[in-house]
Amino acid sequence: MHFIVLLGVPGAGKGTQARRLSATLALPHISSGDLFRENLKQGTRIGHEAQKYLSRGELVPDEITIEMIEERLGRLDGAEGAILDGYPRTARQADALENMAGGIVRAAVHVEVPIERLVERMSGRRVCREQGHVYHIVHNPPSEQGICDVDDSELYQREDDKPETVRHRLRVYEERTAPLIDYYRERGVLVSVNGDQPIEAVTEKILSSLEQVATR
Ligand code: AP5
Ligand code: MG
Repeated sequence: MHFIVLLGVPGAGKGTQARRLSATLALPHISSGDLFRENLKQGTRIGHEAQKYLSRGELVPDEITIEMIEERLGRLDGAEGAILDGYPRTARQADALENMAGGIVRAAVHVEVPIERLVERMSGRRVCREQGHVYHIVHNPPSEQGICDVDDSELYQREDDKPETVRHRLRVYEERTAPLIDYYRERGVLVSVNGDQPIEAVTEKILSSLEQVATR
């Protein structure tokens, strides 16, 4: 199995790009945040355990997160790999992924966006109830206000997109996740892409960078 890992601050566009890459590369998109929100909605044990961390913008403890992702990766249904969005997020999670039998991180894509863009991105974000499709009221609006283009479900604002929670998530990112940039650089698989351009341009840049990594 080979993985493409997406790294970047909250709001960098990981989910937006992961969904587009998933369609182009025919690899499943696995988002740890989406999986937690789905567990929350379904009222599962993992959902109960994760709830307080999500609403405060804290990381869910590694044991719970690793268990959830490994369970999901065990059900890839014959896919030869996956696009990982929001996982790994700590050194321990990265080690767990590296030690997973048959798993190789082919590329870690760092989507770089200046911090001053983020509050605007988060405050304009809308997400669909049914499957977590992501929109932005200005940069990527749905055809009909408040309704998902794909599955017609209602669009809502994430609870952790309040400015004070966003600021906390950024601090958590700097402390716990930013070190993974060096982790993957040392392994020769890091690519950095400017995420502060139109959505389509970012995808193009990621796809061409992935080709370069493949021939390194
Ligand atoms: P998660 O859901 O992963 O949140 P995040 O990493 O904070 O990232 P976001 O989803 O907020 O942003 P994104 O980069 O996906 O941006 P998006 O594409 O939506 O995690 C949530 C919580 O779950 C965590 O706080 C934690 O509690 C828990 N969790 C998850 N994974 C975990 C882990 N591994 N370990 C422990 N805990 C974990 O884009 C943002 C907005 O900008 C959208 O409105 C979009 O339309 C717009 N936009 C995107 N690209 C562009 C562009 N190029 N130009 C203009 N607008 C754009
Ligand atoms: Mg996301």
